[in-house]
Amino acid sequence: MCGIIGYTGPKDALSIALEGLRRLEYRGYDSAGIAATGPTGIDVWKKSGKLVNLEAELEASDRGAATPTAAIGHTRWATHGVPSDDNAHPHTSQDGRISLVHNGIIENFSQLRSELTNTGVEFNSQTDTEVAAHLLGLEYAKDGDLTAAMRRLCQRLEGAFTFLAVAADQPEVIVGARRNSPLVAGVADGEYFLASDVAAFISHTSEAVELGQDQIVTISPEGIALHDLDGAAVDGKPYSVDWDINAAEKDGYDTFMMKEIHQQPTAVADTLRGRIDQHGHIALDEVRLSEQEFRDINKVFIIACGTSYHAGLVTKYALEHWTRIPCEVELASEFRYRDPVLDRSTLVVAISQSGETMDTLMAVRHARTQNARILSISNTVGSSIPRESDAVVYTRAGIEVAVASTKAFLTQAAACYVVALHIAQRRGVMYSDEVAAVVESLKAMPDKIESVVGNGESIRNLAQHIAAHQRVLFIGRHVGYPVALEGALKLKELAYIHAEGFAAGELKHGPISLIESGTPVVALVPSPAGRSVLHDKMISNMQEVKARGAQLIAIAEEGDDVTASHADHTVYVPQAPTLLAPILTAIPLQYLAVEYAGALGHDIDQPRNLAKSVTVE
Ligand code: F6R
Repeated sequence: MCGIIGYTGPKDALSIALEGLRRLEYRGYDSAGIAATGPTGIDVWKKSGKLVNLEAELEASDRGAATPTAAIGHTRWATHGVPSDDNAHPHTSQDGRISLVHNGIIENFSQLRSELTNTGVEFNSQTDTEVAAHLLGLEYAKDGDLTAAMRRLCQRLEGAFTFLAVAADQPEVIVGARRNSPLVAGVADGEYFLASDVAAFISHTSEAVELGQDQIVTISPEGIALHDLDGAAVDGKPYSVDWDINAAEKDGYDTFMMKEIHQQPTAVADTLRGRIDQHGHIALDEVRLSEQEFRDINKVFIIACGTSYHAGLVTKYALEHWTRIPCEVELASEFRYRDPVLDRSTLVVAISQSGETMDTLMAVRHARTQNARILSISNTVGSSIPRESDAVVYTRAGIEVAVASTKAFLTQAAACYVVALHIAQRRGVMYSDEVAAVVESLKAMPDKIESVVGNGESIRNLAQHIAAHQRVLFIGRHVGYPVALEGALKLKELAYIHAEGFAAGELKHGPISLIESGTPVVALVPSPAGRSVLHDKMISNMQEVKARGAQLIAIAEEGDDVTASHADHTVYVPQAPTLLAPILTAIPLQYLAVEYAGALGHDIDQPRNLAKSVTVE
């Protein structure tokens, strides 16, 4: 949510900042801006709307009198103030000597704004960020030390922020700060980067430095220095980024979302790879929990948001079945405000693709204060949520650029299955041959996912056929219910229509009144084998909606010879154990959303009003 990039070094800083913004645009696209420094001072360009507007602005200008030596850039997801040129970042101090970009929310901004207004400072925007620009300018005026000024600024602020700032009279220096928002440094020979994520600089270097909470970072062509808020030097954690530049390209697909749908077989295989040794022992990535602590767990809370929350709901079915430990799944944004009962025997599983979602991070911190153990499932190495957890499983899905999650859902579910089996094994509640049987089924999933991914054409025709409807309902039972919720979320996000997921048995208690002649209803039909009671119940629920005029689209298992006669259209997925089926049945719904939104002419990768990595509460 908001992307920021800073570069200092011998190359054309403006072009590098622009390229970084292109790669970060998925984090926000309400406006974009760049401040570049050079011998003549600071030049600022900013424009509301997508990055193309800023590019056009730069094209039309002389791009500054001299080649800039450093630049900072920002792509915005609006919080305070509408998307407009004035509210776009960078913001500049009253004396014009400082420009600054910001990701996050300054919670005490209105009090600070009144203070500044009373001393005669004039504001040009409605943003909370401009407060920081003016304060930094005033601090810098005291001693001309940008690093110290940034430190003093941070000491006055409450909330979440990442800042990058440049000063007119130190054209090669960029100072950054980080509290509760992501910031990573990139290191190359005589050139340095600061960015919200490594995608911004991966084409230049794969050497990165992880920055800690409440740290100030200063870069110039001479080097990088990190300090805490008291001014003491601190060490960053260096690491190498193990994906290449192609990961941030569309690779011939029309959209990142289609690319990411097609990456799912490999992504799930990568999630599972190496987790299970030849003795059936299941290993997690980083575990700071003892065997005894795993054995002592008597309650599990899963906390997450959006698609990750749906992956959590899928997990509940598997985790309770395999471990026999009660499990609750909660929206992270609600969790800490209802005073949940937690103790040292409670395991809190935090699921977050980005590892930076503020609602989830705050829920994790709350759980920690209650002595709960934290295990996180994340796709982002070194991000805040894994750093604050006792154990971590990385999903290894590779960067997800499309704002609507696809491979995150499948890989999170896969990682959660591994966690559930790990706990079952530690507690001795599953025989090793039972674990081995599930592991074998899991290992077979990537090929099955491949076959569903390859069947996109059938959905394409279907989606175009129903795209005239302004309401689509999704129904499911058991693990099909969270998949119904996920299908509805995808369609809402991309097609901007009313889409809602229901537990199929719940329809008759109210929502069935939404059905009119022709209303598309997508039914996630359970396997007819094994849990055939569920299958029968689902067929009854389908008949109920059909009797009221619904147009029924069924997602059914291959070999199910009953469902098709009750549906208008049936899409088949390969057979799989019931608990694992969601990582197959979710895929047609991803396609459905892409095709439906495509038929309406919507932007697939950057749906309106949204942004990836939601770093505000
Ligand atoms: C939906 C989507 C969001 C995210 C949610 C949590 O397609 O992408 O609902 O799932 O914002 O994000 P993470 O997993 O990064 O915490």
